[in-house]
Amino acid sequence: MSSGTKDAEPLVVMRNISKRFGGVHALSQVNLEAYAGEVLAIVGDNGAGKSTLIKILTGVYQPTEGEIFVGGEQLVMNSHSDAIDQGIDAVYQTLALADHLDPAANMFLGNELTRSFLGITTLDNKKMRTETERVLFERLGVRLRSLDVPTASLSGGQRQAVAIARAVYHEGLRVLVMDEPTAALGPQETARTLKLIKTLKEQGLVVILISHSLDDVFEVADRVHVQRRGKCAGVVKVADSSQQDVLGLIVGAEEAA
Ligand SMILES: Nc1ncnc2c1ncn2[C@@H]1O[C@H](COP(=O)(O)OP(=O)(O)OP(=O)(O)O)[C@@H](O)[C@H]1O
Ligand SMILES: [Mg+2]
Repeated sequence: MSSGTKDAEPLVVMRNISKRFGGVHALSQVNLEAYAGEVLAIVGDNGAGKSTLIKILTGVYQPTEGEIFVGGEQLVMNSHSDAIDQGIDAVYQTLALADHLDPAANMFLGNELTRSFLGITTLDNKKMRTETERVLFERLGVRLRSLDVPTASLSGGQRQAVAIARAVYHEGLRVLVMDEPTAALGPQETARTLKLIKTLKEQGLVVILISHSLDDVFEVADRVHVQRRGKCAGVVKVADSSQQDVLGLIVGAEEAA
């Protein structure tokens, strides 16, 4: 934690993270740092350890070795809900949204707002709806034509927005991880999602974006962490490098030279 640089300290520090699944070394001694108000992309070939790394950050997996610090405090997380309590959440392309429920019900799934009248507690559907509308618009600049539809009828990008809204509704959210958020989206929806990512960054969150699309990465990320065969092959600033440079790190051109 004593980098001694003039820059602000990173909000997220993962130190010497290793993860073994039986005989598989999914991660070996990986370091990762991410700053508030930046988009850090994680790239790498299939099986390079990207998802495993962020599942450790989001409490889904426990590292075999290594330490995680957020805001200078060491975290030991035993579950994803521990991570949410620490302000770390994730949005996946294969979204855990209930298709038959409307967007507000999805946003508050498992966390429903209630009201009490004469000692009787009921769901506060009206408040959930207005809150959903408010968060979508104020935080993400998104307005859905109707909130009265099953989530299944929304476009991929709109579903993404509902899932992000659910994460950012948590006031203490500091870190949002997105694993392949544009993988199944068309060009227009991809552009919208990239815009959402920029909005979240401007709000001071750490956004960690896993992507196979270097176009997306070079459009929104500030820095790129390259994973290769379970190790970090390098970290580059987008402003100082080309897609070719990053590709070289992904495939190990340096190593082969
Ligand atoms: N639950 C698990 N059990 C056993 N092995 C696993 C498990 N999860 C991941 N692995 C292995 O760990 C390695 C890294 O996998 P990981 O899913 O992190 O890769 P990735 O970089 O996200 O790949 P992709 O781009 O395909 O999503 C792979 O060899 C994978 O097979
Ligand atoms: Mg993955």
